[in-house]
Amino acid sequence: MITWEQVIQHRLDEVRQQGRERNSVPIRSASQPVVECDGKRLLNFASNNYLGLAGHPAIIEGERQGALHGAGATASRLVIGYTEETQSLEKEMALYKGTESALLFPSGYAANIGTLSALLHRGSTVFSDRLNHASIVDGIRLSGARSYRYKHNDMNHLEHLLKKSASRGETQRLIVTDAVFSMDGDQAPLRDLVTLKKQYGAALIIDDAHGGGVLGPQGKGTAHHHGVAEEVDVHMGTFSKAFGVYGAYIAGQHTWMRYLENKSRSLIYTTHLPPALIGGIHASLNEVKQSDSLRKHVLSLSNRFRLRLQQAGLDTGHSNTPIIPLIVGKDQLALRYSQRLAEQGILSVAIRPPTVPDGKARLRFTLMASHSDAQVEEACIKIIDMGRTLGVI
Ligand SMILES: Cc1ncc(COP(=O)(O)O)c(C=O)c1O
Repeated sequence: MITWEQVIQHRLDEVRQQGRERNSVPIRSASQPVVECDGKRLLNFASNNYLGLAGHPAIIEGERQGALHGAGATASRLVIGYTEETQSLEKEMALYKGTESALLFPSGYAANIGTLSALLHRGSTVFSDRLNHASIVDGIRLSGARSYRYKHNDMNHLEHLLKKSASRGETQRLIVTDAVFSMDGDQAPLRDLVTLKKQYGAALIIDDAHGGGVLGPQGKGTAHHHGVAEEVDVHMGTFSKAFGVYGAYIAGQHTWMRYLENKSRSLIYTTHLPPALIGGIHASLNEVKQSDSLRKHVLSLSNRFRLRLQQAGLDTGHSNTPIIPLIVGKDQLALRYSQRLAEQGILSVAIRPPTVPDGKARLRFTLMASHSDAQVEEACIKIIDMGRTLGVI
């Protein structure tokens, strides 16, 4: 009889043989442009701390003040109730996003699986971009809804599927997309998505985990940046990236939020965010609103970084945000590239399938407003040199 131990060992060996083993590395000061790893200093191009706010003193102080109300929330908000601080943060988030209402979730992952599995059901039909985040994929799976995956950002393909679905008499259509794609750094064509959603009577949900704080006036996000915020039915975003804290929100019409509060299992059956995080998020929201110069700076650093890599002949896909992929194709090559860069003092992540499609392994670089020009230049030189050494260029 095969034991659990043998099965697990075998599966782990398979992952290794495919060159897809993942390892977390011990690290210090992840929020800073320079981190320490195994006693070595590395330039940090791996964090989602786009505005550099994760180490901001006002936000850390917000967390400290929040913690004065207790170290934990002690239960789900539906069991113990929710505090004045949570209430006022949700009101402020709704105002910020321009929606009737907003609801806090423990994390972006929880927000997506909870929202999609509650809104969708076996009788509904969902249209999801092929490169959407895993939490969207999992939320759809949980719902049991009929699901169509359209080619990445391909509006012709989406329309073809919408037509097909309509001709089959399928109803209750919902389109869901990342607003900024987490592994590609490109943006969804939100204006076209709004046109299609109206034409085919669908609802539209956008996941703005990576656009929130970075794009749009006051960092309100990708939909505001494209001037279509009012046409989006449900806005999802996280506080874990540009906001530098943790937790997430869903924003939209009041009835939808009331429904989610009643039906979203990842909100109902889990403990509410701890008071320290509520305090930190509140402080971060104030900072994010005022951070136009940080936004401008990180976008300009990103443009420079991207252009340098492109001019050297490296493939950065269609990125136009602080997420910059360097697509190399083979898993092992991506892994070797990132290891060799780490030896040179540059921290980046090798992203391999199943996070990205087969044959599209890459390094993922992320820029922060707190990077200096010299740090960005040093990274570009080392990345390009290594590209030549490894035969990528
Ligand atoms: C597009 C997208 N959605 C959702 C999430 C999950 O957010 P969180 O890290 O807050 O759980 C992430 C990040 O991991 C993401 O990239």
